[in-house]
Amino acid sequence: MRITRLTADGLESGLVTDAAPTFAFALASDLPGEALASARVRVGDWATETSEQIGIAYDGPLEPYTEYVVRVDATGTSGATATAETSFRTGRLGRPWAARWITDAAYRAPKKQSPVPMVFRTSFTPAKPVRRARIEATALGVYELELDGERVGDQYFAPGFTSYRHHLQVQHHDVTAMLRSVEPTAGTGRAASHTLTATVAGGWAVGSFTYLRKNTIYADRQALLAELHLEYEDGTRDVIATGPDWQVSTDGPVRMAEWYDGETYDARIAASDLTWKPADPAGAPKGDPELSAQVGPPVRVQEELSPVTRRASPSGEVVYDFGQNFAGVIRARIRGTRGQTIVFRHAEVLVDGELFVKSLRTAKATATYTCVDGEQEYSPKHTYMGFRYVGVTGIDPDDLDLSALVLHSDLRETGTFTTSDERLNRLQSAVRWGGRSNLVDIPTDCPQRDEREGWTGDYAVFATTASYNFDMSRFLDKWLRDVAAEQGRGGGIPMVVPKAANPFPTMATSVWGDVCVLAPWAEYLARGDLGLLRRNYPTMRRFLKAVDWWSSFLSLGEHRNVWRYPFHFGDWAAPTGAAKEWIARGKWIGTAYFANSLGIVARIADLLGEPADAARYRAQRKHVIRAYRNRFTDGAGRLGDEFQTGYVLPLHFGMVEGVEAEGMAANLVRLIDENDGHLSTGFPGTPYLLFALSDHGRVDEAFDLLLQTDAPSWLYMVESGGTTIWERWDALRPDGTVNIADLKSGATDEASTGGMVSFNHYAAGAVGDWMYRRIAGIEPVTGGYREFRVAPLVGGGLTSASGAVETPYGRASSSWTLDGDRFSLRVEVPVSTRCTVVLPDGTTHATGSGAHEFACELPSPARVDIAASHG
Ligand code: BGC
Repeated sequence: MRITRLTADGLESGLVTDAAPTFAFALASDLPGEALASARVRVGDWATETSEQIGIAYDGPLEPYTEYVVRVDATGTSGATATAETSFRTGRLGRPWAARWITDAAYRAPKKQSPVPMVFRTSFTPAKPVRRARIEATALGVYELELDGERVGDQYFAPGFTSYRHHLQVQHHDVTAMLRSVEPTAGTGRAASHTLTATVAGGWAVGSFTYLRKNTIYADRQALLAELHLEYEDGTRDVIATGPDWQVSTDGPVRMAEWYDGETYDARIAASDLTWKPADPAGAPKGDPELSAQVGPPVRVQEELSPVTRRASPSGEVVYDFGQNFAGVIRARIRGTRGQTIVFRHAEVLVDGELFVKSLRTAKATATYTCVDGEQEYSPKHTYMGFRYVGVTGIDPDDLDLSALVLHSDLRETGTFTTSDERLNRLQSAVRWGGRSNLVDIPTDCPQRDEREGWTGDYAVFATTASYNFDMSRFLDKWLRDVAAEQGRGGGIPMVVPKAANPFPTMATSVWGDVCVLAPWAEYLARGDLGLLRRNYPTMRRFLKAVDWWSSFLSLGEHRNVWRYPFHFGDWAAPTGAAKEWIARGKWIGTAYFANSLGIVARIADLLGEPADAARYRAQRKHVIRAYRNRFTDGAGRLGDEFQTGYVLPLHFGMVEGVEAEGMAANLVRLIDENDGHLSTGFPGTPYLLFALSDHGRVDEAFDLLLQTDAPSWLYMVESGGTTIWERWDALRPDGTVNIADLKSGATDEASTGGMVSFNHYAAGAVGDWMYRRIAGIEPVTGGYREFRVAPLVGGGLTSASGAVETPYGRASSSWTLDGDRFSLRVEVPVSTRCTVVLPDGTTHATGSGAHEFACELPSPARVDIAASHG
């Protein structure tokens, strides 16, 4: 038996924390049926005995700035043993800062624009030989540190985006090796002098942000807080802290940096050219936020892409195609001459061979670089773009070696999914890239236009797919703190978190608000961490209370709990109609989502030992379901006003059963047929559409929709060259034009100001959930896959499929082939977990850990109905 992964707060190494961590470990064994019997977890003198592998809470002593070694000794039910160690460090644990916030108090940001980056610096000479050196830093704005001209660390956009009025993340950088690499001043034996520099761009706190292009949202100007802790070899210490002895300048080489417009860099500006003045003290940030060690996974370079083609556009721009839409920045190796200016424009699509940028709306998405003489390299550091194509002017292509850096939060990829149908593999790739492009410190709607905000509804519908593909635990832990922090007094959830300057009022609204339930629940099922549910439970309760209030507002008797007010986005981004029509479907969608969230929170209440809450939510759910049926249906499965999402939700949320459910499924199928075999669901219905069909005996219809290739459909995107998921199903129309029709004014393409058409919105990629759970058939039954099910659906002409998930207990997988009518399945079950396998012939097999093979003949006709097994 081996421990294959031991984590402290989800990290195998490198955790720095200001709170007591929890531990988890995965086991592997060659012995079938192995499970953990007990484990002893030790941290110094602290020890605990446990039979759990997840959420092992440390409640021992914690001293600031201390390294703790964690040791696990595990014993299996077979008697086999395994041991592993990891370590974590504590941060300052609330100790007061010696540093003071510094800024350039005279600087005023221009209206609606991002401020010029501020550069701060200090010089220091260690008094003695250094044993260890660490920097702790944070900023209002986004910062990058350099020590003696070398970049410190590899994180982009520190301190990350949080609700800055509530909390600010602090980064811990170990710079021991960097300091030591500088030799003592030759001949003197004295320690060398060092320079520490911080460039602080406007970022989210001060820069222009949201489609309204507001700036100075959280602070009037950038500010920096940093301490360099020097620990000498003799055990004594020094702290170099930001304060009035630091200097500041606003004429560094980064002349402009902001999310939407890009970056302007003048390499002619050398460090020695800057005019410096003493830094001014800055007051504490507005709201006096809590400062604590970073929780969110840092944004880092994840991959470097090379262009697949390079062509001159009709207008003479040199266009590089990276073959993939993504979030990131260019990396340019340049042979240039002093004063030569190179312009890099970014776009997601080409129309008539030219970059199409109207859909970026006000975002200029341009990097501009002015050269010095000779070989040089440039890559933006304080912004990112969403793009596939880069158009370059100002340089002979032979003097440019261009690549691109994919940037996103450092998330462990936990899922893979493949089938015999190459088109579905490309769809899975588009879903995955949709996640990779929109999990950039916060969950964004899109990475390219003047938005990139934390729209809660987009994540609410993508949550399950995200948690299949990525370990979202630390990312969500960070973001859900802000969801909680920004919850309104009445219990509403902002439609965008961090709310920043988003103009929508905070109120209880369906789908968008339901994120406070759907996101932690999806991640709990994937990772099994009850702590995440516990931390978010108060938010869920307050949200449900608010929904209860609104759904009782002006609705009485049998209509009570039809949730209509104050506002819903409704069937947002449905393929037909415009915003007004989508919004008009709000009360159906709101009421169904209310029933769903009540059901989920009742289960969460059970898990957290709150039986009274659980009973109350269950009773209320019944009432809400009754209201939906009485108000909207004829009681026999037919809606008065029919639309696909209106059937999908009650079917998938278990709001109807028996003949009524059959009737609804038949009506849903009829609506699809009437729509020529096409879906017509918006954000709220899309994730559940195929479940509503397949789990009610309509497996073939589900596969037909999945494999549909005309718009609107998933494969239409893929077959039209999409490498990510689109916001509008027909973002690129069959005639090659972009659908920028304005949704509010109805303006045509020519008159439109850019419309609402991103080629990189993950919401409709929520179909990824169905592919894992129904085609591969792998789904958790209890948190973290301690119990899970493998029940593949055969259909769509697929001859093989496989899905694998890195569960907290180890790798679980389902991999099947179909040879004629012969179905063969291989299942991997991690140590300590149990799996129920349901074969297409309906037989059920209970298995423990190990690799297992099954086979059966497909029942004829080869149409499989396992609705009952999916409950
Ligand atoms: C965003 C969406 C978001 C919506 C709110 C759009 O501009 O891009 O994805 O959820 O607004 O309705």
